[in-house]
Amino acid sequence: MKDYRLIMTIFGASGDLARRKLYPALYQLYNKGFLAEHFAIIGTARREWDHDFFRQIIRESLNEGIQVNDNIEAFLSHFYYQSNDVKQVEQYFDLKKLSHLLAKKYQTNGNQIFYISLSPNLFPIITSQLKEQGLLTKKGYNRLIIEKPFGYNENSAEELQAQLTQSFSEEQIYRIDHYLGKSIVNQILPIRMNNFLSRFLWDPTHIDHIQITLDEELGVGERGTYYETSGVSRDMIQNHALQLLTLVTMDLPENTSNESLRQKKIARLKQLKHYANLKDLKEHVVRGQYIMSKDQKEIAYRQEKNVAPDSKTETYMALKIGIDQENWLHTPIYLRSGKQLNNKQTDIKIIYKKEAENIPANYLQIELAPKPGIRLALSQSDSTHCKEIKELHLSYQLPHELAKIIPGDYEKLLFDCMNGDLSNFAHFLEVKYAWQFIDSIHSLWQEEDIPDLAFYPAQSNGPEAGDWLIEKDHRFWFNE
Ligand code: BG6
Repeated sequence: MKDYRLIMTIFGASGDLARRKLYPALYQLYNKGFLAEHFAIIGTARREWDHDFFRQIIRESLNEGIQVNDNIEAFLSHFYYQSNDVKQVEQYFDLKKLSHLLAKKYQTNGNQIFYISLSPNLFPIITSQLKEQGLLTKKGYNRLIIEKPFGYNENSAEELQAQLTQSFSEEQIYRIDHYLGKSIVNQILPIRMNNFLSRFLWDPTHIDHIQITLDEELGVGERGTYYETSGVSRDMIQNHALQLLTLVTMDLPENTSNESLRQKKIARLKQLKHYANLKDLKEHVVRGQYIMSKDQKEIAYRQEKNVAPDSKTETYMALKIGIDQENWLHTPIYLRSGKQLNNKQTDIKIIYKKEAENIPANYLQIELAPKPGIRLALSQSDSTHCKEIKELHLSYQLPHELAKIIPGDYEKLLFDCMNGDLSNFAHFLEVKYAWQFIDSIHSLWQEEDIPDLAFYPAQSNGPEAGDWLIEKDHRFWFNE
């Protein structure tokens, strides 16, 4: 087992994400022996904690979610804390001192990962200080992991990129999209590339359309302030949903190198058809917002904490998306995502052309949640005298035992970063073209004085307009 050598500095170490995702992921890497002797984790945040208190916090957060073993104390001994106001220059001196000390103690060969899990407006402040105060090593690697959102639109993303690349090159920047760490998502390209059958399964001339669903049961909860500036278009569609769309429709790369893969993804995102005008948009995009549930147990979005009582933020969207490339011109992608729906369902369904009107369409389902797996729906005639046509499902569901050992999304992505593997992180140009698509929608929405918001009760299956979007094309959402 390779014992990786590195120091990881986490900005935002007291935050919710670090507790829920990062510490358990690091502990799994430790249990598997990838982190063993030669690593140190420095946590930084504003609070005046010391190493022991920090370790106690991590111990508690691990205990909340996973089974810890006898090795926990040895694992925690690799954690150090440095209180840090990221805007104060002097504090980087202390951080540098601590990093040097730990690099020597654990012989980390100058390898460093900086993980920023703070508000995006702090990203450039931190990266420029890391460079100016000499925290970037000359020997070994320096990598930067940042959480979304990467900008708020194309302009702000460009601006952020320009600021970050003054200290880190594009190849050193790892933009987290946790969907790209999900094990089933990681199977999409290998399945497409390694199977002769996939040439037929993925040939748009056989595909009638594709459905991508990212439905959630939860509302916005405590995240009202963030969500008001984001809505589902920026929170889910710009990143997760468009990444899934790209993986299922992109041309296959010539080889498995990061470069080749990213080029194909960039090309596909650039080819998303923008809506020509407001009329076109209204025909192909539905936006909705949840109101109080019918049983009155769930409040309306406008009643959530830190949400404006007349908010027009969309908590649901359904879109018909076209791809401007010869092969895909006649194969639409229908996408929907929303909060406070009656089911958590995350999947991609590739629906094939029908053999005959009375026979159900075959489809391939790639399910991310709730039951990660892949299913091919065929039609068969049952063996009774009536010869009724029935669906036959060939399905693969991630076995429970395997699901336990397969790396979680953050574990997978941290490990990829430790290996310098960028394939599951979005390149800046992917982010840019995804923003162009989302921006084009927002700028048309702004043309309207009174936006069309389709209201839907919380815990329902979304607004009727979302169903109509697909039904008017004589298709329907496959809800199983
Ligand atoms: C996050 C969004 O990126 O993804 C959340 O900010 C959303 O609003 C979450 O709930 C969904 O992730 P998953 O893995 O539960 O589908």
